[in-house]
Amino acid sequence: MTIPHSRPFIDKDDIMAVSAVLASGQIAQGKKLKEFEDAVAAFIGTKYAVAVSSGTAALYLALRALQIGYDHEIIVPSYVCSSPFWAIKLIGAQPKIVDIDLSDFNISASEVKKNITPKTKAVIVPHMFGCPAEIDELIDIGIPIIEDCAQALGAEFKNRKVGSFGTISVFSFYATKMITTGEGGMILTNNQRLVERIKEIRDYDKRSLEILRFNFKMTDLQAALGISQMKKLKNFIEKRRRTASLYSKNFKSSMLRLPVEAANRKSTYYRYVVLTKERKSLQEFARIRDISCERPVWKPLHRYFKTTGYPNSDFAYKYALSIPIYPRLTQMEKKYLIREIALILRRLARNDRFNLRNRYSV
Ligand SMILES: Cc1ncc(COP(=O)(O)O)c(C=O)c1O
Repeated sequence: MTIPHSRPFIDKDDIMAVSAVLASGQIAQGKKLKEFEDAVAAFIGTKYAVAVSSGTAALYLALRALQIGYDHEIIVPSYVCSSPFWAIKLIGAQPKIVDIDLSDFNISASEVKKNITPKTKAVIVPHMFGCPAEIDELIDIGIPIIEDCAQALGAEFKNRKVGSFGTISVFSFYATKMITTGEGGMILTNNQRLVERIKEIRDYDKRSLEILRFNFKMTDLQAALGISQMKKLKNFIEKRRRTASLYSKNFKSSMLRLPVEAANRKSTYYRYVVLTKERKSLQEFARIRDISCERPVWKPLHRYFKTTGYPNSDFAYKYALSIPIYPRLTQMEKKYLIREIALILRRLARNDRFNLRNRYSV
């Protein structure tokens, strides 16, 4: 049995939805796009949504809508993929990298406060691994918040969906995200002026040359898949949450710090991330058993620049490991994964490395 770290969930309904659009002849941006935008806005609880080509494009367009420019600084956590960094660079602004809280791997509000300067124009707040950040406290700081919900479609803070708190929020529909359109993204907000600016930049055709534009559009083919996936989202989240509690029941070990859901937060469990001093061994021995566990963030941003002063991001980089969790995992796969990981943990606790290297010993 081979268990990849991540896999999309595509069923017959998805295939039929995309085929119907193909057959209709209307395959670029059209009616389906509007239907997808409306479905996501209604689900999250914002007035407006604009679908675009990727989560990174959504971040770039959110920054453009907020009229961020060359002389501005954007605060961003170190422990995140490089997408927010590139969106900030593309706009010509300065990323101000700050540390995270280890309790939930999210941006630290106290670090944000320490790093504000007169040039700070926004804070990008990714809800990491599907776990909502302490958004109330971040909003109280008084700087516009861009919620990055790429991993958190459906997560809740105080019974309200993340993505409805910030000035603007962004989503990704990459192949292995909460729902997928292959590639794709969306921007949500209650502010009509921001929406108008984004729609103006998303397209270049039959428009003035006075502002910078590009083709950031999503197609109806993708939107049809998105609509079909939205119908399954509630079930996806339930499945992920059930799997997470199953893991937490079975992986109790003195060597692991398991993910915890703080009060008032409902995680989507986009990732199931444990902290362990045995990260390397657990990853290596799981691979021997064809279970692919990964570092949940490939490299914290500050480490690209070889800078120091980010102890929590460094700690997470060293010790965090993501164990496969996604709706497509079958009961058999989960049983296998739980048995094998629990076995590895027991043997690591006894320092029994000889038997760990032997793939077939049980
Ligand atoms: C937190 C976060 N932000 C932004 C992105 C970028 O999304 P996309 O890959 O759709 O450009 C991702 C995707 O991996 C992400 O995890």
